[in-house]
Amino acid sequence: MPDHPEQRKNLTGSDQAAPDPGVRVFFALWPDVAVRHGLDHLAGQAHKICGGRRMRADSAHLTLVFVGQVAPSGIETLKAMASGVRVPSFDLHLDCVGYWKQNRIAWLGTQQTPRPLAALVESLEEGLRREGFKLDQRPYFPHLTLVRKASCGALPLPDADIRWRVEEFVLVRSSLLPEGAVYEIIGHWRLR
Ligand code: 2AM
Repeated sequence: MPDHPEQRKNLTGSDQAAPDPGVRVFFALWPDVAVRHGLDHLAGQAHKICGGRRMRADSAHLTLVFVGQVAPSGIETLKAMASGVRVPSFDLHLDCVGYWKQNRIAWLGTQQTPRPLAALVESLEEGLRREGFKLDQRPYFPHLTLVRKASCGALPLPDADIRWRVEEFVLVRSSLLPEGAVYEIIGHWRLR
């Protein structure tokens, strides 16, 4: 970070600092070690069939709501909003895999979205709208990305069978680097 006044001047010569672009964030479910192990195995199988860029086991996640670029002050608003969410913990059965041709993603999902998962997403979206955040209009489809830039006509894998006891959700900061996105958990909240 520049700390000398000269360095803070912009090209027009004014003393105003450039606005902080903020951070890119999203709410997600973050798997425990046992679930991560199962995901990693599946990602390996999908990668053998489709090529592409396999997800890293330590960054596997299920996005709840993608928020996007947020100013530093907005992070505190997000955290305060998240701490007001009241949803019970739940079991998530990850039992189907698929491939989206349009964005070349091989994914793992569920045939039966648990009610508390839908309620959690709704509650976060409602809280975000209340705080003035603009959200993606696309319908929500819970999934974990296994492989990016994948190419295959279909994904002929047997049904998956990963059981995940979900007891918390997290807020994640995403930094886009040439080698791929790097994720850092910056907040977590228990489900009760
Ligand atoms: P994806 O894995 O299907 O790409 C961080 O980018 C996470 O937020 C990813 O899990 C990504 O889903 C998800 N996401 C949802 N909407 C997004 C958007 N508009 N831009 C980037 N990522 C988005």
